Amino acid sequence: MLTLKSVDSQAKIFSQLPVHSYIDPNIFEIEKKAIFDKYPKYLGHRLMAPEHGNYQVLDALNQAAVLVNNHGKMNVLSNICRHRQALMLENKGSASHIVCPLHRWTYGLDGKLEGAPYFKENPCLNLESFPVEEIYNLIFKQTQKQTSKNIKDAMEFKELNQLLNFESYKLHSIKIDHYNFNWKTFIEVYLEDYHVWAFHPGLNNIVNCDDLTWEFKSFSSIQKVPFRNKNHAQSSPIYDIWKSKIYEQNGHNSPAFGAIWLTIYPFFMIEWYPNVIVVSHLIPDNTDQCRNIIEFYYPEETILFDQDYITAQQAAYNETALEDKIICEKMHEGRRLLFKNKQEDMGPYHEPLEDGLKHFHQWYQSEMSAYL
Ligand code: FES
Ligand SMILES: [Fe+2]
Repeated sequence: MLTLKSVDSQAKIFSQLPVHSYIDPNIFEIEKKAIFDKYPKYLGHRLMAPEHGNYQVLDALNQAAVLVNNHGKMNVLSNICRHRQALMLENKGSASHIVCPLHRWTYGLDGKLEGAPYFKENPCLNLESFPVEEIYNLIFKQTQKQTSKNIKDAMEFKELNQLLNFESYKLHSIKIDHYNFNWKTFIEVYLEDYHVWAFHPGLNNIVNCDDLTWEFKSFSSIQKVPFRNKNHAQSSPIYDIWKSKIYEQNGHNSPAFGAIWLTIYPFFMIEWYPNVIVVSHLIPDNTDQCRNIIEFYYPEETILFDQDYITAQQAAYNETALEDKIICEKMHEGRRLLFKNKQEDMGPYHEPLEDGLKHFHQWYQSEMSAYL
């Protein structure tokens, strides 16, 4: 079994990214071409609009588009009216048509303009429909360079059998976290478990990273950690409440796992914990800022009958997210100062706790190499 005391003996030096990768706006411009435009972009899940007529305005596209269920077909349509370019729908809901509130132009759920009041003829200006690919009910905006097959392959880990169908789960809520650091820093922290014992006392009492396992594909990975049955010396009051709720929901038995984290590069993540699935995707805004859009899914029974479980789980999730935010801010600030002082520095990777980080760096370097 791994012990954290063996850090030094197991550490080896690999080439991490130079500090300017996180700070230099020119690198961000290159990333747009080399990476962002190349990979399918996650937009939303079918559970956001499960029935005909349901819609969800998409934060992933800055609310300029809406996910619409049209007789089971998931359309992603522009949310901007073709008449005077008004933003039309807000948040989520159900409708037989998309009606612009300004002058009542009326569109079908396929985006076709069906009515323009007081115009003698239909101007035939339909809403733009974005090409999308639906994989395991996850909806991605297609790109020309990467096919859907790649994303599907990236998810096909044996560990995820049965987990990707979200069976009996419903969407509960969506939140957006805003961060003042480079997007890669977030992904790096997500892809290493070395900080869990040091920075997440609460999470560390739910999961046991001593028994962490990794699996990798060319641009994805999963990390799996068992549930920690015996209480750790460290914990947090918030996680203690969630842990007791987990036992309560599981008939006082241990759940099958503590956590499974799937990452598909560059910035799509799914997390499975006992009785909750969290889907999140990062949106880089510039070199120093990014947003994380976080969707919480629970079993329908939990949503209907156990609000306390949801409250406890979300409090725990927020505690960990806040701790991760502090880590990322400290790393970003250190790198910013090194860059400012024209200095460079790199450290070793811990094996296996930072294996995912190493894999991400190798993928990133190979994607960027043709452009640098
Ligand atoms: S702006 Fe939408 S109908 Fe005029
Ligand atoms: Fe963390």
